[in-house]
Amino acid sequence: MTESIPLENPLMSRRQLLNFLTGASVAATTTAILYPAAKFFVPLAEESEDGSLLAKDIHGNPIPASQILAEPPGTRALVAGLTGEPTYLTVRTDGTLHPWGIVDNCTHLGCTFPWNPNDNQFQCPCHGSRYDPDGRVVRGPAPLPLNSSALLL
Ligand code: FES
Repeated sequence: MTESIPLENPLMSRRQLLNFLTGASVAATTTAILYPAAKFFVPLAEESEDGSLLAKDIHGNPIPASQILAEPPGTRALVAGLTGEPTYLTVRTDGTLHPWGIVDNCTHLGCTFPWNPNDNQFQCPCHGSRYDPDGRVVRGPAPLPLNSSALLL
């Protein structure tokens, strides 16, 4: 007496595998498309008690506006931008912050650069590009002005 063992139909298991792979591909593609779009619309900065937005330091800790505004006029404070990129905030002579931050990323090949208060310029150490206080190119090889980002404070 031999019992018959039910055999799976190999076509069904192949079909199930293809359905699974197709579903997984659609899910991965949908996620890859929707995640950046969703991330774009969700602000990364946090609001303070008075409603202003907070900048963050290199460790992600919030920096209150009062801390940056306590610096003397002309100060370039390096903070983390909305998307985490290093950004210079400028304290103006009237004691307010410039409405735009300057992204610390040279438009030549992407080096970071310091602010040189003696020359009143951003000066890239990699290939010598220089930018005025508003990020316009003073001397190449940088082909474009510096990028700016909305103020976080
Ligand atoms: Fe700044 Fe080349 S990367 S000048």
